[in-house]
Amino acid sequence: MAKKKTILDLYKMKESGEKIVWVTAYDCCFASYAEKAGMDMILVGDSMGMIVYGYQGTTPVTMDMCINHCQAVRRGAPNTYIIGDMPFGSYHESVTDAVHNAVRFIKEADVDCIKLEGGVAVADKIKAISQAGIVVFGHVGLTPQSSAAMGGFKAQGRTTESARAVIKDAIAVYEAGARAVLLEGVPEEVCSFVHKILPIPVFGIGAGSDTDGQVLVIGDVLGMYEEFIPKFAKKYADIAGIATQGFAQFIKEVKEGTFPAPEHKYKISENPEEFETLFFEIESALNK
Ligand code: KIV
Repeated sequence: MAKKKTILDLYKMKESGEKIVWVTAYDCCFASYAEKAGMDMILVGDSMGMIVYGYQGTTPVTMDMCINHCQAVRRGAPNTYIIGDMPFGSYHESVTDAVHNAVRFIKEADVDCIKLEGGVAVADKIKAISQAGIVVFGHVGLTPQSSAAMGGFKAQGRTTESARAVIKDAIAVYEAGARAVLLEGVPEEVCSFVHKILPIPVFGIGAGSDTDGQVLVIGDVLGMYEEFIPKFAKKYADIAGIATQGFAQFIKEVKEGTFPAPEHKYKISENPEEFETLFFEIESALNK
């Protein structure tokens, strides 16, 4: 069994050029598959809002939802580096709130670090959480929690003005004490530049190849979420197809009477005649 990674292992991987791979997971089963497959990290992302709960976005996700799902993921992947995603509203009102909620992730859900969205605007929260001794990952570029303000789930950094803002955010996150930064939905050139200038691991999702690693959302990787498939995602399995086919076959077999088959049935442990007598006695009593 592989030893659980620490932030220092991630830095060593960056240094050696070994790409770090992570995926989101929200439950025990899929977390265990990710661990068995050798995933370096698991993000309990607030994308659970869409994939698990069927919301249109991530903003309805609460702290309690995140904590519950982090606990389930930890039970499924006890030896994997787990990142808890701070949901919308859990770090926006005050520094005190942000630290309180980050501490909840560590104490109640046993995660290894937390991630939060935003750059310059949340640098004070990142600083305070880091100073509390908690590893923080930043998340800049396309930040789904503020998609309404961005006019939708739109790539960022495509003009020089927008690229300047993304780069400023990444620098602010680093200077505030984040130990890694995730760039989402930005041109490869912008991510590559951030990767060149920052000494911390720079991860990408829809940010090209010049990164220290890549993350994807489980619904996209395994073909579980058909509502919306981002341009940058790649489907490595067809869980929706397999599950729908499995359910359809179950329905068919029950309706036609081929399930349950003999091998799915319990056998009586005593003499069959005694059961017949028992049933006869009960039926006769009922019919009196
Ligand atoms: O919540 C999430 O799934 C994320 C990904 C976009 C990385 O933050």
